[in-house]
Amino acid sequence: MTANLYQPISGEIVEIIDESPTIKSFVVVPAEEFKFETGQFVELTLPGEGEAPFTPSSSPADTEKMEITIMKAGRVTSLLHECGKGQMVGIRGPYGNGYPLEDYLGKEIYIVGGGVGLAPIRSLFLTLTDRIGDFKSVVCRFGARTPADFIYKNTLFGAWREIDGVDIKLTVDNADDNWTGNVGVVTTILKPDDVNVKEAVAVVCGPPIMMKFATLKLLEYGFGPERIYLSMEKNMSCGIGKCGHCMLGKYYVCKDGPVFTYEQIKGYRNIWD
Ligand SMILES: Cc1cc2nc3c(=O)[nH]c(=O)nc-3n(C[C@H](O)[C@H](O)[C@H](O)COP(=O)(O)OP(=O)(O)OC[C@H]3O[C@@H](n4cnc5c(N)ncnc54)[C@H](O)[C@@H]3O)c2cc1C
Ligand code: FES
Repeated sequence: MTANLYQPISGEIVEIIDESPTIKSFVVVPAEEFKFETGQFVELTLPGEGEAPFTPSSSPADTEKMEITIMKAGRVTSLLHECGKGQMVGIRGPYGNGYPLEDYLGKEIYIVGGGVGLAPIRSLFLTLTDRIGDFKSVVCRFGARTPADFIYKNTLFGAWREIDGVDIKLTVDNADDNWTGNVGVVTTILKPDDVNVKEAVAVVCGPPIMMKFATLKLLEYGFGPERIYLSMEKNMSCGIGKCGHCMLGKYYVCKDGPVFTYEQIKGYRNIWD
């Protein structure tokens, strides 16, 4: 890990994967070993252009290279989408807190995700399934706008489903002719008997509107707010608790998050904005 958390280290983009019409994954090899915990984020710099926060989508067990999955959202992300192999970038971090895996031991992990929210979830999924025996089960309910919008298609429709202890169901808002699964928003595939609520924790990551309605559904099914883990995104600048751009009530999302329990933040206004 870099000696100075605030000083970027350089990294090289060695592979680019087209995930969906608007999302690409970038495999970055940092100039030195880079350690992070699943759920933490990094600031990725495109030299001379700017930087933006992203949650690595790869397993923290791989300290030699890191995968970052990026949706084209604005200036920096569009420029990153134009980069090719060999492009040098800067990486600073890791920042914030990750998923508290020790609190998940022996439990059913109910993961609800959508869109590019599957990026941190992929990192979590790889971490959990590396030591699947430590958890009761990993139950995933993922949504996308259309089948083409699913990211990580190869593993999502393939190898991940073969892992003992894993249960994956997918849904799309709009199907195509080949889609045989559920059609509807992700809450339509959350069922009360998906997990034993008393022995489960829930992890939610995706667009704010999805996070809101998934959280409401989980509460309806009896999940305590302290067992619903949300990966929150706020506009960020410094990433280190100095500028105040990312305030959520009394919290700095960059320092105290990005992972929060719903219990921590439920009292604040505009948490889903
Ligand atoms: C902790 C954290 C982790 C993130 N992880 C990922 C990830 O793994 N993959 C990914 O694709 N994106 C992720 N994001 C979102 C990503 O940082 C933004 O899409 C990016 O900063 C946009 O930069 P831009 O210069 O392309 O867009 P800009 O030109 O700055 O803005 C384009 C639009 O996006 C909005 N925007 C800008 N920054 C953010 C932000 N941080 N969150 C939400 N909206 C924003 C602006 O208000 C504007 O409407 C993460 C954000 C945070 C805070
Ligand atoms: S981004 Fe500056 S305080 Fe969080």
